[in-house]
This record gives sequence, structure tokens and C-alpha cells, in this order.
Amino acid sequence: MNKQRLDKTVSSQGLWSRKDAKNLIRKGFVAVNGNVVRQADAYVDWDRDIVAVNGQILQLQQHCYLMLNKPKGVVSATEDPQQTTVVDLVPDELKRKGLFPAGRLDKDTTGLLILTDDGDFAHDILSPKKHVQKVYLAKVNGKITEEIVEAFRTGVNVHNEYTTLPSRLTVIAEEEDGDVGQVILREGMYHQIKRMFLSFGLKVTELHRIRMGKLELDPKLEPGQCRPLTEEELALLRTREEISFED
Ligand code: URA
Repeated sequence: MNKQRLDKTVSSQGLWSRKDAKNLIRKGFVAVNGNVVRQADAYVDWDRDIVAVNGQILQLQQHCYLMLNKPKGVVSATEDPQQTTVVDLVPDELKRKGLFPAGRLDKDTTGLLILTDDGDFAHDILSPKKHVQKVYLAKVNGKITEEIVEAFRTGVNVHNEYTTLPSRLTVIAEEEDGDVGQVILREGMYHQIKRMFLSFGLKVTELHRIRMGKLELDPKLEPGQCRPLTEEELALLRTREEISFED
């Protein structure tokens, strides 16, 4: 049994705000098991009831999966008394108990971050064993040499603490104040990309995640905005790619 208020149920789709949902319900656009219900505070059971808005049946997911375009200056945590967290950015109508970021981006890193209340799913997409790749654009304050590209390919020894798994580095732009590289990782150690470049004396000045698995950051999401993932996108997120890191 998973009972939720009807207005919250309607707005959970990310298509309508809580206020819009209340209006739709009041005006008779919302039906539960085929009967119009006009009370926003009526309870529905997500495991059994069929809720439709204007005849369209809603997919009531047990768990919540959101795509966030993380802005700079926000920490990848659930709560923090001193700083804004990624969970603080979620609008009320999409908020769920137990929502947390699946993995971390540094405070100054931007881009694709998944928020969920599904621990097993988070483990699945983060575990290096599952090979879900994370793709970043990294701007550095100097030149990305062939030696660095090769070291990323075989594994970088980071300050004699650990050696990274093989990764992919491709130079995609050479700018006056430094090169931009695309980095593909399948693990996520603390400050990994920054520390990998630092091993070669390069500082990362901008870092942006553009993709996880085959799921790309929605270009329509402004920094700080989030929206629910569709079923298709969830599948893309779990998709491993065929790129071999070893060749
Ligand atoms: N690597 C980093 O150094 N920082 C991030 O936020 C993500 C990957």
C-alpha cells in the first residue's frame, strides 16, 4: 500500500504544479478508477488505483527519479545547515521523502545529476562493476598532451594513493587559456578528474557532466532546474556502452 494525496499524485508527474493539480481536480478533469474525484485531499493508493487526467492514465512510480542540471555553488548532499544542497533545489511538487543524489558532483562542478529515493538503483548506476559510464567536459589551465591522454587510457596513479581504472580522454578544443577535454569514466573517486589532471600539473577550471550511460543532460533544463525521468530515459541510464577502455 502506498497512499498519497490526489493533488500530490497528479503533480508528481512533473507536468503540473501542485496549484495546477488542485485546479484540474476541482474542475473535474481527474478520475480515480474511472470516477471523477474533485477533492484534492482525497487519498489514492499508487499500487492499486488508476488515476487519469483528462482521460490519460498516469504512471505512478513507486520510486522517484529526477534529472537535475546542477549549478555551481550547490553541494551534492541531502541536507546541510550552512549551504544549499541539490535536494533543496527540487520544487515541492516533485519532492519525496528519502530523495538523495545518486553520486556526487563537486560544489563547483555543473551538469547532469540524478536524484532518487531508490537505493538499489543508485548502487546499480554508480558501481564500477556495472560499467555505466559518466562523460564530462573538463577545461584545464594548460595543454593536454599525448602523454596525458595515454596515461588516462591505461590508468593514472593519483598521488601514489590509488591507480584509476582505464578511462578515455579526448581533446575537443584548444583555447588560449587552456584545452578542453572530454573524459569518460566508469568510476567516481573523490575529486577524480581534478586529481587525475593535477597529477600532470594541470588545474581543472570548469567541469561539467554531460552524460551517464546513454542518458544525456536535457539541454532544455536551465542550471538549477530538474524534472522526472521518463521510462525510456531510465533505461538509457542503465545502458552500458560498448566502448572498450583497454584498446
Ligand atoms: N571528478 C571531479 O574531480 N569532480 C567531480 O565533480 C566529478 C568528477
